[in-house]
Amino acid sequence: MSAVATTATKLLLSDLAPTLKNVPSDYIRPISDRPNLTDQAHISDGSIPLIDLQGLYGPRRSDIIKQIGQACQHCGFFQVKNHGISEAMINNMLSIARTFFKLPESERLKIYSDDPSKPTRLSTSFNVKTEKVSNWRDFLRLHCYPLQDYVHDWPLNPPSFREDVGDYCTSVRGLVLRLIEAISESLGLPSDYIDKEALGKHGQHMALNYYPPCPQPELTYGLPGHTDPNLITILLQDDVPGLQVLRDGNWVPVNPIPSTFIVNIGDQMQVLSNDRYKSVLHRAVVSRDKERISIPTFYCPSSDAVIGPAKGLVDQDLPAVYRDFTYAEYYKKFWNRGLATECCLDMFKASSTV
Ligand code: OGA
Ligand code: NI
Repeated sequence: MSAVATTATKLLLSDLAPTLKNVPSDYIRPISDRPNLTDQAHISDGSIPLIDLQGLYGPRRSDIIKQIGQACQHCGFFQVKNHGISEAMINNMLSIARTFFKLPESERLKIYSDDPSKPTRLSTSFNVKTEKVSNWRDFLRLHCYPLQDYVHDWPLNPPSFREDVGDYCTSVRGLVLRLIEAISESLGLPSDYIDKEALGKHGQHMALNYYPPCPQPELTYGLPGHTDPNLITILLQDDVPGLQVLRDGNWVPVNPIPSTFIVNIGDQMQVLSNDRYKSVLHRAVVSRDKERISIPTFYCPSSDAVIGPAKGLVDQDLPAVYRDFTYAEYYKKFWNRGLATECCLDMFKASSTV
């Protein structure tokens, strides 16, 4: 190739997007698969329940657990307030993410990788090696539990990153443990069932998602429709809308409420609940004028954990919908397959011949 013909390319979208007037062709979705942003405007949100966790360990416990169970069953999504994580910690986490994505390109590129098996990496889109259409997103992916196994590999810039993000992860893990205890009870299982019987040694990952402003947001996605492969996700989003959840065939925006978290059921919870609780399709659309940050915590089984429907939820009338498998097997399929609206769960059905 002649030197003249080479165009300067950027690995990260945050460095490419500010130079663009149009969305490059590899980001453009086929007409049948576009966000339809004009239709969205009139759909108000509010269909995702907001659950107040105040009194979870007091007289309101059984009421809160009932609300959580209903939300997991009918919606797959809910928001929580009075969750025990301070506003200062939340704002600091968002501010660290913002600072990180504003670091000089050379600094960010030091941790760039397109290998999904690397526990700490900055990357773009979803899986650049396997996907056909790119997504309007950069992301920093971290493994966070056990913290001491991973923190030495995390960015050192901004300088408080390791300490502050580590504290945030520990706090969010505390919230997850309270929620999975409540969810176990809501399923009629022993309260420590998910914590002690279902997750092996446990795992926790997080992403710092950065969605740059997009000149033609109607042509592309930040993330296309997908379900989360893990057990349960705790999403922190800034004040720019973008998340949408599929409800009764409509994509419903989940507009930001400051200091709340969005909780969603992942594929592993659907499996262990034997299909009582649903892992629901969701996606992120992007904005013409505003950058957006979201920070999901993906709580998951450890790789060696054997997942299957809880024995207490299987009987002659309700046979096991899924076969047993290891989380490593599931997770590998998820990344290799790319984000696809038919989620990986079908391949793990007890009746599947795939
Ligand atoms: C995800 C995800 C939604 C968002 O990272 O899995 O669904 O609003 N993110 O960024
Ligand atoms: Ni997701």
